[in-house]
Amino acid sequence: MEQAWWKEAVVYQIYPRSFMDSNGDGIGDLNGITSKLDYLKELGVDVLWLSPVYQSPNDDNGYDISDYRAIMEEFGTMEDFDRMLRGIHERGMKLVMDLVVNHTSDEHAWFVESRSARENPYRDYYIWREGKDGKEPNNWGSCFSGSAWQHDEATDMYYLHLFSKKQPDLNWDNPKVREEVFSMMTWWCEKGIDGFRMDVISLISKEPGLPDGEVLPGESYAVCPCANGPHAHEYLQEMNRKVLSRYDLMTVGECAGVTVEEAKKYASLDGKELNMVFQFEHVDLDGGKYGKWTDRRVNLREFKQVMTSWQTGLEGKAWNSLFLGNHDQPRSVSRFGNDAPEYREICAKMLATCLHMLKGTPYVYQGEELGMKNCPFSGIEDYRDIESINAFRTLTGEGKIAPEDMLRYLALRSRDNARTPMQWDDSVNAGFSSGTPWIMVNPDYTEINAARELADPDSVFHYYRQLIALRKQEKIIVHGVYELLEPESESLYVYTRTLGEEKLLVICNFTAGEEEYRIPREFVSGSVLTGNYGRTTVEETVCLKPYEALVIHTGGQA
Ligand code: GLC
Ligand code: CA
Repeated sequence: MEQAWWKEAVVYQIYPRSFMDSNGDGIGDLNGITSKLDYLKELGVDVLWLSPVYQSPNDDNGYDISDYRAIMEEFGTMEDFDRMLRGIHERGMKLVMDLVVNHTSDEHAWFVESRSARENPYRDYYIWREGKDGKEPNNWGSCFSGSAWQHDEATDMYYLHLFSKKQPDLNWDNPKVREEVFSMMTWWCEKGIDGFRMDVISLISKEPGLPDGEVLPGESYAVCPCANGPHAHEYLQEMNRKVLSRYDLMTVGECAGVTVEEAKKYASLDGKELNMVFQFEHVDLDGGKYGKWTDRRVNLREFKQVMTSWQTGLEGKAWNSLFLGNHDQPRSVSRFGNDAPEYREICAKMLATCLHMLKGTPYVYQGEELGMKNCPFSGIEDYRDIESINAFRTLTGEGKIAPEDMLRYLALRSRDNARTPMQWDDSVNAGFSSGTPWIMVNPDYTEINAARELADPDSVFHYYRQLIALRKQEKIIVHGVYELLEPESESLYVYTRTLGEEKLLVICNFTAGEEEYRIPREFVSGSVLTGNYGRTTVEETVCLKPYEALVIHTGGQA
């Protein structure tokens, strides 16, 4: 059991645009974040991860960066940033920055140079190819619909963009690009930040020759076969030698397409690359023919299988990150649970228990600690997200999905569900802004808001606070070895954690019905560590209430 602060930590993700607006322009900003640091301290989280705050034309809300060493004007100034960082450190918390280096904005100075002429010294910073028979160089599709190639008039060639056409991919095979990225990272480390969350870092090494990919039935383009490319590990090891190993950092790689085997390399405990990765298998389980645009629900047995393969697969070899939501996913209580008024709170607490008792570093996405749920968007004009808007246009335009069905899928799955303003209180705009918010406020804010939950000891907020505090007291939550029980159950997720003589039993009822469960013998004499119904005693057979979570501790001292 090797200790490390990033294993013991709980991370809180802030989506700055939607967290707190300090100047009434309807857009969250850095001074807004600074004004809420005491709230985050009270919750007890250790690390704040900020989605990008760098200068950006905001084609993809900051994931398209035009200057890595400047703050987005709408978010404030570098002085505001420095003040926020000091405020975070004064409270004993740490700051992790989003590092978006698979691509830049097309407005970044490197790309402006690069596109200007074939002989420009920056040409090779990006991926340029000639067309093939008057068409794109290959059949790869962009993650935001359409081709991954954009024709550029100036030099009559195409550039690669795995995301929007305003997000050209950097050419990581060019050593100059890597040096630029490493020196920029060093600059931020010297400023005193505490780590990086690395955006789609598994995509940086493209297959040599950029071969065509497989086009799935009904699709117009191939899913880009770029994940875990031939040099991905080599480049991250170089980054580690030249930057990461020189500072005391936490690093997490967003790794689309990562498998357990690959994750053991990215996040190996030998520390040669990253501390941990975000994997996506559990949030891909409810996908369908058109990817996420469906109303399928996650099947609990499959969910347990996936979580278990990561828990046992990485045991002793690499470290897991644990999440149910982020700025790219719908609200977890709506998606994995039940957001009907009678169940929302109890269910949010159950999901939190289930996740935080697993082995790995837990991530809380802003508003999740309040049990915030999906937003009742109505028309396409309510959406702001480029992925959602492009998908709506393309899939309805090609007649693949009827508009009313697509709107239903968007309401369930759009990334904008997670991007509505944080709900601070029941005043106008949920206390987020005195101006007009850049995206609609979820009308349920009069019921669901931080002020109300802070005042109610039984709230989802205080349940999260207690869960986070428990992690500080019980080493077994951080270091215990995981084992799945009842793999076949369609309604219960039951697992144990073991550390020496100590054991935890975690039982989560994922249904709105009552469920009987016979407690394994060794736990019958145990004590209740936590739970969402205030149960205090352990019986041989428990009748679990709807969405009940119960954690029993045995051996050692409770
Ligand atoms: C990551 C980000 C997402 C962004 C994409 C392109 O998946 O989390 O928000 O759109 O990368 O940068
Ligand atoms: Ca603002």
